[in-house]
Amino acid sequence: MAGALPEVKADPVAKGVLGKHAILEKNATLLLAASLVVVSIGGIVEIAPLFYLENTIEEVEGMRPYSPLELAGRNIYIREGCYVCHSQMIRPFRDEVERYGHYSLAAESMYDHPFQWGSKRTGPDLARVGGRYSNEWQVQHLIDPQSVVPESIMPSYEFLINTDLEIENVSGHLIANRRVGVPYTDEMIDNARADLEAQADPDADWSGIEERYPKAVTGDFDGNPDRLTEMDALVAYLQMLGTLVDFSVYQPEENFR
Ligand code: HEC
Repeated sequence: MAGALPEVKADPVAKGVLGKHAILEKNATLLLAASLVVVSIGGIVEIAPLFYLENTIEEVEGMRPYSPLELAGRNIYIREGCYVCHSQMIRPFRDEVERYGHYSLAAESMYDHPFQWGSKRTGPDLARVGGRYSNEWQVQHLIDPQSVVPESIMPSYEFLINTDLEIENVSGHLIANRRVGVPYTDEMIDNARADLEAQADPDADWSGIEERYPKAVTGDFDGNPDRLTEMDALVAYLQMLGTLVDFSVYQPEENFR
């Protein structure tokens, strides 16, 4: 006959565990203390190994600190809030890799203080925009984005071409980055100002820059070789983004595949 439910026999083991748990559940202070113990164990298990691993970022051939001119350009990029519309992190998904190139490696932003990853993309990701367009295109696009991409909603940054680049404190920027772990050498710091001026000067001797900052793009950037402007620095920065690691020979380490 329907209706009568079978009698449930109390499981003595379950009853014992629940009984002890009830003590915790009924005592807020004890519950709090016990939760702290459990959370701390979890935290230690996650954090402690990081102190013993020699390196949590895979070392990658080709990475080097920014040249003084690129660093100055990067400061302008941050000052102007380009990151509000642009990310610099290609995620390992097929659509992103097909559009932007090889997914970003952690090592590629190891010298970024602060990093520019981001997830807000009003405009495209810029992690590998270096070398994709000519200097002339970059300058024209920054002066008047709609003149090269008619449907663009990017604002104009025309004033950069009329603003002299501040170069007095360039070695200070390198020193500040060295304090947070970027391996700038004394030689790089001593030559910072000369390197910055030489990189954007088409008539300069670039041997020092090429030695200190391999793959640095040299020459005039803003179309006016006689004047060193913020446009020179920003375009020098854009032109090196994502170009340092040679992905035709790059092999991920076994553990990172
Ligand atoms: C209001 C949002 C916005 C801001 C701020 C912005 N951009 Fe853009 N950017 C866009 C959009 C949208 C596009 C795509 C259309 C185009 O190419 O103009 C774009 C395109 C670009 C491209 C071409 C990328 C490609 O792969 O075709 C570059 C380079 C670029 N922006 C650099 C910058 C820099 C440097 C700054 C800061 C000085 C900046 N943007 C600020 C919205 C923005």
